[in-house]
Amino acid sequence: MRDDKVIASALLAWYDRHARVLPWRIPPPSGRADPYRVWLSEVMLQQTTVAAVKDYFIRFTTLWPTVDDLAAAEDARVMAEWAGLGYYARARNLLACARAVAAAGGFPDSRDGLRALPGIGAYTSAAIAAIAYDAPETVVDGNVERVVARLFAVQTPLPAAKRDLTAAAGRLTPTERPGDFAQAMMDLGATICTPRSPACGICPLIGACDARAAGIAATLPRKSPKAARPTRTGTAWVARQGDALLLEQRPAKGLLGGTLAFPSASWDGRDLPPPGPARWREIGEVRHVFTHFSLSMTVLVGELSGNPERGYLVPLRQIDRDALPGLMRKVWDMARTEIAA
Ligand code: ADE
Repeated sequence: MRDDKVIASALLAWYDRHARVLPWRIPPPSGRADPYRVWLSEVMLQQTTVAAVKDYFIRFTTLWPTVDDLAAAEDARVMAEWAGLGYYARARNLLACARAVAAAGGFPDSRDGLRALPGIGAYTSAAIAAIAYDAPETVVDGNVERVVARLFAVQTPLPAAKRDLTAAAGRLTPTERPGDFAQAMMDLGATICTPRSPACGICPLIGACDARAAGIAATLPRKSPKAARPTRTGTAWVARQGDALLLEQRPAKGLLGGTLAFPSASWDGRDLPPPGPARWREIGEVRHVFTHFSLSMTVLVGELSGNPERGYLVPLRQIDRDALPGLMRKVWDMARTEIAA
């Protein structure tokens, strides 16, 4: 079974029996799906795992069942619900996109139309067109690259191999059920054709897989060595005044943009003094990994002896740990015992 069509039908037959049950998914044969739910899930799944996204997806669609509901939501409410998913530019684009779609009266139904919207790039536009509209678009994420690299034993390392892998995935994409095919490729990559020890023995494509035949499946795709992630340092100030703590809204653009956070400096390029007068006491360091750098952040606590110079005071009982971005949760977890003392 070498033929692309044979591969696609073997994969679809497997998907009909083994599709993962996911909150945003219509079980096969699925045909069309609500573009709002497909879009929301795909944006959440950009750089975040399926396991982490599930609860967020259920919560968002319970709070905002339609794109019009989300478009009408308050920015701060959406940012707070997004907290913990990371990559906050996605949340800002999510709102901008929801508002553009609501104003236009619905989602565009072509890949190009989708791609013109905020936060929707090459991958996400293809995924929505395929899954929501069953359009014959090819969806290529890391899972799909791995499956295709193995099927055709592509030895060129990533990222150089991307073009060839995308072209090969395009040739495999069937005109019948392209949406299910896209999801089947993702599921195969996530459950059988896994990075380290692929379960070739139960793979529906075992007879077509060149890498398996050559005994090199687990070594593909090859990857060019990555540049090491640099380390940055920064300072966060947990400033108390009576029963309140000082928080600030971060600038809309940039790292953790638009989120509520403890005042901080240096790590984000902002060279700022402490946010107010206090006898600052260093209590430790928190570490956090961002896409392009690792951060080591020194945490200082202090009781304000005068008015703060930026941010605003929030009563302690109103501070919602879950509404803070991950880095700031770590700061809070370190500081809270000190503050209670
Ligand atoms: N990863 C990205 N999109 C996905 C989807 N629709 N289903 C499962 N995993 C995914």
